[in-house]
Amino acid sequence: MRLGEVLSLAAGHLGKTSETARLDAELLLAYALGRTRIELYTDFDRPLDEFELAAYRALVARRARHEPVAYILGEWGFRRLTLYVDRRALIPRPETEIVVERCLARLRGLVEPTVLDVGTGTGAIALAIADEHAGAQVTAIDLSTSALELARENAEHLSLAMELLEHDLRNGLPGGPYDLVVSNPPYVEPSDLDTLLPDVRDYEPHVALVGVGATEAIARAACDVLRPGGWLVLEVGDGQASQTLGRLAALGYGDGTITLDLTGRERVVEGRR
Ligand SMILES: C[S@@+](CC[C@H](N)C(=O)[O-])C[C@H]1O[C@@H](n2cnc3c(N)ncnc32)[C@H](O)[C@@H]1O
Repeated sequence: MRLGEVLSLAAGHLGKTSETARLDAELLLAYALGRTRIELYTDFDRPLDEFELAAYRALVARRARHEPVAYILGEWGFRRLTLYVDRRALIPRPETEIVVERCLARLRGLVEPTVLDVGTGTGAIALAIADEHAGAQVTAIDLSTSALELARENAEHLSLAMELLEHDLRNGLPGGPYDLVVSNPPYVEPSDLDTLLPDVRDYEPHVALVGVGATEAIARAACDVLRPGGWLVLEVGDGQASQTLGRLAALGYGDGTITLDLTGRERVVEGRR
């Protein structure tokens, strides 16, 4: 069977379970053949041998069982970085790239600003800030020892420096004073867990998804560790932005702003101590 034909068959099969079937099929085939996606298009008529077909079939079968492509590939792009990803931590999302964008805007012009990332997971936010703001002194915390292990592996392979601490945000926030505290906290209500796609619900760590009161706890605790004039930048769930903005105002934060994600949903809330 030729490459183009195999790709169409796989995309058709994955279409039953994935909204991004064609993209998934291409990413998995490129991975199986050790090529880039673009190279697939220059090789459309090439026949695949039985070993290549068997390897590809195994990957497509995993995806058909809802395993996220990022976990199958073992790496995922986030801003300028390629991060290792696996089931130890949440897969970084495109909306979180906007969170980083907002942090960089708040840090602009500061020499060696201090930054705390609360619930770092793969280290995505912390590492992107370290990468894109020269001199940033980044500390990242997480409750999950396995997520911290993965974040450390990412920092090492990217040769980016950050301090990693195992810490539960419910005990307040460590260190400081910081110029900026950022978090993409778990914000799914426990009662909504069953409404999530199986790709998310059955594969990503529940500690990264479900959290009651984490956003409020971070906003309260950040008051104690932010420098006067320092910024709190929070990712929130769809529909949670105005309520979060109100809570920040009640806690004494000023200059509240909401930023939309690329699909027009209100997903980032900021306030100034
Ligand atoms: C939504 S994930 C965000 C991961 C990463 N920052 C990102 O944006 O891709 C939330 C993270 O918070 C961590 N977490 C959950 N509860 C926590 C707590 N009580 N204290 C510290 N970290 C916590 C989880 O382990 C998870 O890594």
